[in-house]
Amino acid sequence: MRCLIIYYSQSGSTRKIARAIHKGLSRSTEQCDIFAIKEAKPQDLDRYDLIGLGSPVWCGAETPNVRRFVESLAHQQGKHIFTFNTHGVMPEQYFPAVVRRLKARGFTVIGMRDWFGDVRFQFAPSPYFTHGHPDEIELREAETFGVEMAETSRRISAGETQLIPPVPPYVLTEQLLVLAEFYRAGRNPHGYMRYDEKKCLYPKCRLCMDHCLMDYIDLSVEPRRFGSEGKECDMWLGCTFCEMICPSGAISCDWEGFMKEFGGKIHAAIEGNPLENAAEACIGSGRLRMLIPREEVRFDRPYLMVHNKRPRFKIENE
Ligand SMILES: Cc1cc2nc3c(=O)[nH]c(=O)nc-3n(C[C@H](O)[C@H](O)[C@H](O)COP(=O)(O)O)c2cc1C
Ligand code: SF4
Ligand code: SF4
Repeated sequence: MRCLIIYYSQSGSTRKIARAIHKGLSRSTEQCDIFAIKEAKPQDLDRYDLIGLGSPVWCGAETPNVRRFVESLAHQQGKHIFTFNTHGVMPEQYFPAVVRRLKARGFTVIGMRDWFGDVRFQFAPSPYFTHGHPDEIELREAETFGVEMAETSRRISAGETQLIPPVPPYVLTEQLLVLAEFYRAGRNPHGYMRYDEKKCLYPKCRLCMDHCLMDYIDLSVEPRRFGSEGKECDMWLGCTFCEMICPSGAISCDWEGFMKEFGGKIHAAIEGNPLENAAEACIGSGRLRMLIPREEVRFDRPYLMVHNKRPRFKIENE
């Protein structure tokens, strides 16, 4: 059996999980390759019997580059695929949406699994509830999951089709109300981001160009291109990763303007703090083993305030 894992990871958690799954699959199959999504081409899938697709959860779904990749694929005639993700405290919408999209492309979805990952979302507390995840325990689970997926694929091919999991139902959560508010606002998510050519270090630096998941930045053309036009980023705020990794402050966000427009809308839509409610539910149910004391997570210390020196996020050696 030949397997291919394709993943996107912005801040490293999904990459760790992808590599652990790869380790497990490599032990139990003839060949297992692993590609970051930017290296993968749709026709690569033709050479493999089993695909693993990994993404962080973003606004309850896969990242827009993962979605774009899946939607670019030809019909897969029942090829086996499993999907995995890492996430904060609101992962519920991912599998219902992604499994349906994979089935629509003709895949047979043979398994799915999620793990907690550290969160560097600008408005979320830093450190976050999931700080330190995925840890060694989760990486071992991911390795075992890889072994299980190879075995499941073999058994389904041999006729045990009852092992194909049902499509998960959508779940009604508070996050849907938050997302509905943002989508209703219907703004270009990059509307609050600015690029200042005078502060930019290009061509000595090209971090934002190399790491924009949607290829929205091209500083080699005249006029320089920064950000999406329209709403195709699919996000209410954009991921703001370019702003976090820019070493010079050439990319910035108008956080005050953003909060003025959107902060009130969330509070009007939902009582209390939806993130805190979701976190309490994860901790209370025993699903989330917190690796730091609960009192270190403070909503008055969001990422954007705690990491206020440039760059606000350093990319690890990939
Ligand atoms: C733009 C953005 C949106 C996110 N949306 C969600 C979400 O809807 N639910 C959730 O549980 N976590 C959410 N997260 C947290 C990420 O899923 C989590 O940090 C993940 O482990 C990151 O994976 P990576 O390190 O591989 O990039 C979001 C993070 C970002 C940057
Ligand atoms: S916020 Fe920046 S890195 Fe993220 S998609 Fe937009 S341009 Fe790309
Ligand atoms: S990361 Fe900042 S300094 Fe580097 S090329 Fe992009 S805008 Fe310029």
